[in-house]
Amino acid sequence: MAKLFPKLVSSLALLLLLCQFGYVACQPPVNSPSRNATLPADEEKALEDLLIKLEWGFHPNISRSACSSNFEYIKCDCTDENSTVCHVTGLDLGFNELTGQLPPQLGELKYLNHLDVGSNNLSGELPGNYANFSTWDQLRVAGNRLTGQVPKFIANWNGLSYLVIRNCSISGEIPPYIGDWSRLKYLSLAYNMLSGQIPKELGDLSNLKMIDLSFNNLSGGIPDSMKNLNLTKMFLTGNMLSGTVPPWLPRKIKDTADLSYNNFDDGQKGEGKLNM
Ligand SMILES: *[C@@H]1O[C@H](CO)[C@@H](O)[C@H](O)[C@H]1NC(C)=O
Ligand SMILES: *[C@@H]1O[C@H](CO)[C@@H](O)[C@H](O)[C@H]1NC(C)=O
Ligand SMILES: *[C@@H]1O[C@H](CO)[C@@H](O)[C@H](O)[C@H]1NC(C)=O
Ligand SMILES: *[C@@H]1O[C@H](CO)[C@@H](O)[C@H](O)[C@H]1NC(C)=O
Ligand SMILES: *[C@@H]1O[C@H](CO)[C@@H](O)[C@H](O)[C@H]1NC(C)=O
Ligand SMILES: *[C@@H]1O[C@H](CO)[C@@H](O)[C@H](O)[C@H]1NC(C)=O
Ligand SMILES: *[C@@H]1O[C@H](CO)[C@@H](O)[C@H](O)[C@H]1NC(C)=O
Ligand SMILES: *[C@@H]1O[C@H](CO)[C@@H](O)[C@H](O)[C@H]1NC(C)=O
Repeated sequence: MAKLFPKLVSSLALLLLLCQFGYVACQPPVNSPSRNATLPADEEKALEDLLIKLEWGFHPNISRSACSSNFEYIKCDCTDENSTVCHVTGLDLGFNELTGQLPPQLGELKYLNHLDVGSNNLSGELPGNYANFSTWDQLRVAGNRLTGQVPKFIANWNGLSYLVIRNCSISGEIPPYIGDWSRLKYLSLAYNMLSGQIPKELGDLSNLKMIDLSFNNLSGGIPDSMKNLNLTKMFLTGNMLSGTVPPWLPRKIKDTADLSYNNFDDGQKGEGKLNM
């Protein structure tokens, strides 16, 4: 079952090397309250089952002290019960060779609010029917072979500040309720097969700084409601967008906007910020 992956092994070797020479802190400080704090048995079980299901190549036997073992990929909060109890709050499992479908054990990690499974070989539908994502902050799913429509249940993911579903073959339209996700700062749905128009509700995302919808099959124009936003970057490259680029756009983009490979009317080049 255990496969060894060169990239992971070499980064672990590097970490050990750095530990050995004292460049990084490899143990919590001796008096750190988290040193003796442990995971509840159910979270330990869910974490172990999850890593086994995903064929996580290097899964050391997860124990209740997993949070004090300095695994780079497991983030914990150990302040519960006077700092005696830990909870798993984040998993960074990007750039591995995880396969299969994200399993239901994900929903059993009740304190998880951050998941990165970018650049793996996951397939099937997006997770969600089994996890309550309403308390989640960050989700990054990229370069996997997920399929299906943007599912209805993502309506509940409204606490997210960072959402990346990139290069995952999802289709359907961008749902209008995404405008209710008031904390969203970073949105990338690039390299999928999304169609329909850019919903005008995106203009309600008052915290949004970066939007990347490039390389989909979006049509229609840039909604006027987006002039309410103050964006740093906007990538709409490689869609079927058309019409006139709104005159307010260059002023509203701090850094760069790429509108190339669409069907926009020529004209607006806007101070070099708009690549058309
Ligand atoms: C951790 O546990 C050890 C052994 O049970 C004990 O000696 C030590 O005082 C504990 N440390 C803290 C910070 O509670
Ligand atoms: C994990 O546990 C199994 C059996 O419980 C044991 O055979 C194996 O050596 C352990 N592996 C590690 C890396 O501790
Ligand atoms: C936490 O510590 C305080 C002060 O030491 C104590 O009064 C309280 O009962 C402790 N609570 C728990 C849940 O252990
Ligand atoms: C990804 O998974 C599929 C089976 O689901 C397999 O055929 C393929 O070889 C895997 N690709 C990589 C790069 O591991
Ligand atoms: C999800 O969590 C939120 C906040 O904790 C709660 O209000 C909501 O009822 C939960 N939803 C489900 C379906 O469990
Ligand atoms: C998309 O993901 C595949 C692997 O699933 C990868 O080979 C390809 O380079 C990725 N494309 C982009 C544009 O990121
Ligand atoms: C965008 O910036 C303008 C000018 O600084 C400000 O008045 C406006 O409230 C900002 N809008 C948002 C959504 O932050
Ligand atoms: C792109 O969207 C148009 C409608 O706007 C549709 O006719 C076409 O089939 C779509 N192409 C793909 C590859 O999904």
